[in-house]
Amino acid sequence: MAKKIAVFASGNGSNFQVIAEQFPVEFLFADKREDYVLERAQNLGVISYTFELKEFENKVAYEEAIVELLDKHQIDLVVLAGYMKIVSHTLLSAYEGRIINIHPAYLPEFPGAHGIEDAWKAGVSQSGVTVHWVDSGVDTGQIIKQVRVPRLADDTLDSFETRIHEAEYQLYPEVLRELGVEG
Ligand code: GRF
Repeated sequence: MAKKIAVFASGNGSNFQVIAEQFPVEFLFADKREDYVLERAQNLGVISYTFELKEFENKVAYEEAIVELLDKHQIDLVVLAGYMKIVSHTLLSAYEGRIINIHPAYLPEFPGAHGIEDAWKAGVSQSGVTVHWVDSGVDTGQIIKQVRVPRLADDTLDSFETRIHEAEYQLYPEVLRELGVEG
């Protein structure tokens, strides 16, 4: 049976867009109600859900609501693409081994929320992109696949960032195919 995927994103959602153009996405979850990614989902005809942590009593209740959605849709693989929350034990205990994330640096180099800027400020000659399994740490889970991205002599932070995102748009679909998700 085909593997069912859900994508979790916030903000811009360009990775979501690339994935949804190549694979059937069961649903999008956005962790902020105002996210532009919700507009993308609507334009692509993908079902979306959105609710915010602050609307719940605590993180456990918030993640229970997420697990309920995943169970209801019988999701095989949760694809994090710019989801800006740490995955905690409620979601992990139900779905660990079935959650992947993309990080805009060559892990274990430059983990955290500012992987691109941190690499840029460190003056590296190359950075990269990593897709990894999600565990309880921040960008610490087992690496599935990664690719190097050079920093060119005439790069600005903007052009460097653009090149990293281009690499993401190649790598994430590649990994999904390798994990048996059908396009
Ligand atoms: C990507 O760089 C991804 O690696 C990181 O968050 C960013 C999301 O960008 N986790 P977008 O919302 O897909 O445009």
